[in-house]
Amino acid sequence: MRGLSPIGIFDSGIGGLTVLKEIKRNLPEEDIVYLGDTARVPYGIRSPETITRYSFEAAAFLMKLNIKMLVVACNTSSAISLNALKRSVSVPVIGVIEPGARAAVNASKTRRIGVIGTEATISSGAYARAIKKISQRAEIVAAACPLFVPLVEEGWFDNEITRLTAELYLSPLKKDNIDTLVLGCTHYPLLKDVIGNIMGDSVSLIDSAIETALQVKDVLKEGGIFKKYISVTPSYEYYVTDSPERFKRIGEMFLGEELKQVKKIDICRRENNAY
Ligand code: DGL
Repeated sequence: MRGLSPIGIFDSGIGGLTVLKEIKRNLPEEDIVYLGDTARVPYGIRSPETITRYSFEAAAFLMKLNIKMLVVACNTSSAISLNALKRSVSVPVIGVIEPGARAAVNASKTRRIGVIGTEATISSGAYARAIKKISQRAEIVAAACPLFVPLVEEGWFDNEITRLTAELYLSPLKKDNIDTLVLGCTHYPLLKDVIGNIMGDSVSLIDSAIETALQVKDVLKEGGIFKKYISVTPSYEYYVTDSPERFKRIGEMFLGEELKQVKKIDICRRENNAY
C-alpha cells in the first residue's frame, strides 16, 4: 500500500543529501530510503550509456524496497536517464532538472540564465531544453565545473583553493550578464557562499533541491499517497555501495545530524533484474 511505503531517493553519492534535506524539511513525517552509489561516483564524467546503466541499477534496488516514488536527486542521472526511467519504473519518477528550470525562469527578469553542472549534464543540454520549453525567449549560457564535486566531497566548502577554482570557472559567465544561475549539480548548493560572492548580489542562485522537494510534495498530494500513519516516527535508511564510514562522516556534516542507519550494499546487475 502506497501510503505505507517510503520515498526512494538516489544519487551518485553523497551530494543528493541536499535534496533529501529539503524533502525532509517539507515533508517531515515521510519515511525515506536514500541510496548513494558511492563506489561509482562521479557519474558526471561518464558516458550516457554508463550513466543510464548505473541509474537503472539504483532504481531497481530501490524498487525492491517497495518505494512509492523515485526521486532522481542526481542532476547527471536526471539529465541523461530520466525519460528512460520514467518509462520503466511503475511509481512516479521525479528528477531535478525540470523543477530547477522552472525556478530559474521564475527568478529571472532579463531571461539571461546561466547553468553550471557536471560535464555530462552540460553536454546533454537538458537544462537548456527544459528552460527553453518554459520560456522560448530565454538565453542560456552553460559551463561545466568538474572540480567542484571533488572539492565538496573533500569538505572544502570555502577555502582558498575552492575560491580560486570557482573564480576560474565563473569569470566567463560573469561577462555574460546573466541575472540567474542554476546550480545544476547536487554538490553545488554547498558552495553557495563562494559562488554567490563571485557572481554578486545581482545574480540569483537557483538550488534545484528546494524546487524538487516542492514537486515531490505536489505529486504525493495529487496521487493521494502521503504517509498514512503520520503519528509514527519517520524512518530514514541510507544505503551506499562503498564503505559507510566516509558517507556517514561527510553526510553528517551535510545534514548537521547523526546518520544512524547506513548500510553497504551491492547493486550491480549481474543478470536480468526485472522491476
Ligand atoms: N550527483 C552528481 C550531479 O548532481 C554530481 C556528482 C557526480 O558527478 O556523480 O550531477
